[in-house]
Amino acid sequence: MVANREVAIVTGAGRGIGLSTTKRLLEDGFHVVMVDVNEDPLTSNAEALRAAGNPVEHHVLSITDRPAVKALVESLPRIDVLVNNAAIFWDGKFDDVTEDDFRKMYEVNVIGAFVIAQEAARRMERGARIVNVASRAYLAGYAHSPYITSKAGSVGLTRAMAIDLAERGIMVNSVAPGLVETDMFRTLTPERQQELIAKQPTRELGQPEDIANGIAFFASPRTRNITGQILTLDGGRSMGLTLY
Ligand SMILES: NC(=O)c1ccc[n+]([C@@H]2O[C@H](COP(=O)([O-])OP(=O)(O)OC[C@H]3O[C@@H](n4cnc5c(N)ncnc54)[C@H](O)[C@@H]3O)[C@@H](O)[C@H]2O)c1
Repeated sequence: MVANREVAIVTGAGRGIGLSTTKRLLEDGFHVVMVDVNEDPLTSNAEALRAAGNPVEHHVLSITDRPAVKALVESLPRIDVLVNNAAIFWDGKFDDVTEDDFRKMYEVNVIGAFVIAQEAARRMERGARIVNVASRAYLAGYAHSPYITSKAGSVGLTRAMAIDLAERGIMVNSVAPGLVETDMFRTLTPERQQELIAKQPTRELGQPEDIANGIAFFASPRTRNITGQILTLDGGRSMGLTLY
């Protein structure tokens, strides 16, 4: 690890928004600790970044596994930034949702985010930053009630942590992406994808780099005295001009 380089943990870093965020934080001068529950493609992407001379390390673990998270956090010389990006998602009408759907989604998207944030915050010093990746869906949306509920929980967690950690000088903020062209979005049927894109004022999908850009703003050491905020990056859909 390069001395004096700020250290950023990015969860769900194997692909999608987490991978883009890793690349952006490397450009911004961080040492990046990539975390993902899936070995593939985390390892190949981390190895490619390292081969290109980037200061990255990678760890295969679930953010819900407190002993593994604690061991990782304690192995790092410093933690300046945590990007709490890992999450799971699926679509489904309310009548068909099971209790198990709700429990699984809550376990990763809320409890997992809480576990790694709590362990990381215990090691953080004044000036550190936590960025939770929520979703515009925390406001509302058709046919994904467990996800919407979990992302409302993620926003609640941001606001609660922002208050509790403010006196230690740790800033906690959220980005709330709209539709982003990643594997998560591609799990939807082509018809459902088109239905959602049609509701966008811009009629465009966001790209992972667009979200990484918002995350990088909150992660920057130059962003000071901002906490408990939700930056919505959704092509304007949250303005309510179109139906949810
Ligand atoms: N893609 C979108 O349209 C969209 C929209 C709004 C919000 N988001 C949010 O952005 C974030 C990233 O989404 P994405 O589209 O890149 O998703 P993605 O599915 O492509 O990537 C998520 C990554 O998280 C990892 N992960 C899942 N569970 C984990 C766990 N328990 N521990 C560690 N890693 C775990 C997965 O293996 C995967 O690599 C998520 O929080 C998601 O809810 C995405």
